[in-house]
Amino acid sequence: MSDVDLDVHRSGEDITEALRRDVREGLSAPQKWLPSKWFYDARGSELFERITELDEYYPTRCEREILRREAGEIAAVTGARTLVELGSGSSEKTRLLLDALSAHGTLREFVPLDVSESALAEAAEAIAGDYPDLTVRGVVGDFTEHLGLLPGERPRIVAFLGGTIGNFLPADRAKFLRSVRDVLTEGEWLLLGTDLVKDPGTLVRAYDDAQGVTAEFNRNVLRVLNERLGADADPAAFEHVAHWDAEHEWIEMRLRATSDTRVRIPGADLEVTFTAGEHVRTEISAKFRPSGVRAELAEAGLSLERWWTDERDRFGVSLSRAVA
Ligand code: SAH
Ligand code: AVI
Repeated sequence: MSDVDLDVHRSGEDITEALRRDVREGLSAPQKWLPSKWFYDARGSELFERITELDEYYPTRCEREILRREAGEIAAVTGARTLVELGSGSSEKTRLLLDALSAHGTLREFVPLDVSESALAEAAEAIAGDYPDLTVRGVVGDFTEHLGLLPGERPRIVAFLGGTIGNFLPADRAKFLRSVRDVLTEGEWLLLGTDLVKDPGTLVRAYDDAQGVTAEFNRNVLRVLNERLGADADPAAFEHVAHWDAEHEWIEMRLRATSDTRVRIPGADLEVTFTAGEHVRTEISAKFRPSGVRAELAEAGLSLERWWTDERDRFGVSLSRAVA
């Protein structure tokens, strides 16, 4: 149990009901798909942390390099009193921001928000222990639904790190950026991490590592179906695929049935059949170009004020300001 206050907007039967709806919609579609947020139960969050330590998975290291270099500038430019973090996970890199904003003397409050209660509770508790002067208010919720409820003294900076923005389909991404803009007051800030387009070999290796950790992370969604909805999916009956879609400039993760397979999902009143080779799309991870990031931010009412990349131009971090 955490000593830190957690506002829980998502728990128990709510989560099961939301999963049931997504499973019915996604697994009944002609091209089967599932939203990637369902990877993140406690095991999924742990697997993601292991991914961030893999040699092949460069985004975390690159973003950390940028934050280490620029956190002082971010603190000076924003003078934020509240740091809100969406999809916060372990909030490990975020400590660089907390340190800089604390040193700058403005920071009062940290508000991490995540669907994964276990990851959030652990991170919030650790940060509250290490930053005793800070008010830490964790929010267990969905950043596509619960942004209106975010607390915090102004000015606030909302951090959305890791490249998680790439896990939205383009139309949902535009809607999400607009919803972030709508909860900000003019002059408040968004700090956004975006993975950049690069050679397909590097990209595919990052999503299909030699140790198979990403494959286990991908298959974890089947375990979530089994646990939450009483499904009988056999994770071993599906192989992990990381496909570079050059047209859309995104990595698509898939689970491909290795033989004809049937999955019963009593909790969703559904039986799903897969023919050998058929797949379910479990995640897209879009890769960006600097001009596209600027344009998408502008479209949402966010003006790009700073743009930084790591030394090898693999990952970009933007700081933008809410404008009228
Ligand atoms: N920001 C961290 C973690 C990235 S992993 C980093 O940069 O390393 C993506 C995180 O977003 C996970 O912790 C996952 O639980 C969370 N997440 C995914 N979909 C979400 C949603 N719809 N609402 C809230 N959190 C979500
Ligand atoms: C959370 N998100 C940014 C990760 C990504 O790279 O798209 C999730 C992930 N999927 C496979 N590996 C990591």
